[in-house]
Amino acid sequence: MESMDARTALALLEWQIELGVDETIGETGIDRYALSATSTAQARPRAAAQDARAAAPPASAPADPFADPVAVAAATAMAAGSLADLRAAMAAYAHCDLKRGARNLVFADGVPGARVMVIGEAPGREEDQAGKPFVGAAGQLLDRMLAAIGLSRGENVYITNVLPWRPPQNRDPKPEETAMMRPFLERHVALADPDVLVLMGNFSCEAVLGTRGITRLRGNWAQAMSKPVLPMFHPAFLLRRPAEKRKAWEDLLTLKSWLRDD
Ligand code: URA
Repeated sequence: MESMDARTALALLEWQIELGVDETIGETGIDRYALSATSTAQARPRAAAQDARAAAPPASAPADPFADPVAVAAATAMAAGSLADLRAAMAAYAHCDLKRGARNLVFADGVPGARVMVIGEAPGREEDQAGKPFVGAAGQLLDRMLAAIGLSRGENVYITNVLPWRPPQNRDPKPEETAMMRPFLERHVALADPDVLVLMGNFSCEAVLGTRGITRLRGNWAQAMSKPVLPMFHPAFLLRRPAEKRKAWEDLLTLKSWLRDD
């Protein structure tokens, strides 16, 4: 490839960013799970390769093409007796194609066993990189919302998502992806055993309540997965529509008084 001066390279980069490029990728997809198991190890010195293997997600057997992904998820999830088991079972689950393009399994953050469990949609770019839910701009707003009623992931909140792998280009989750990951979410709720579930946005409502329409659902208590459930606007929506923060504040106060009275 011809060499390029720094000014041209910078102009090209700025142009790509304006077009919406937010990551440097090749022309073909990369199976990062396969990479971490093989080529990374070949390319690095031995000590570094050992570190990489230690950090790599557990290898999983290829998916049986004749198996029902939802039934496999339900059986594996039910067999998990702890959150650590569940995380390992999800890492080994081979039926969800999102896993192939993801850098990390984003399992949860916060305090397992906390009274409040927040359920979001799916990791974005920052979460995929960090391996933790809600660490980007929406996550920072979520932290401020929780702090406004005395909650924090460091002390008294547990946070997860419907999907543990980032959908490419942050596209919406597909119904079949939500359906196959739902048994894991249900088991996650049972094992974390919070007093209340807070559902962030439509996809979380769809996965847990089987219905969407967040403008109608928000602020209204429901019951699902054997828990009281409070749907709220997703923080990413509030970043786009700051005028709706007033309603989110009402819902936070509803949660606060429920926690006080319960
Ligand atoms: N949005 C979500 O729903 N979850 C995350 O983890 C980040 C952004």
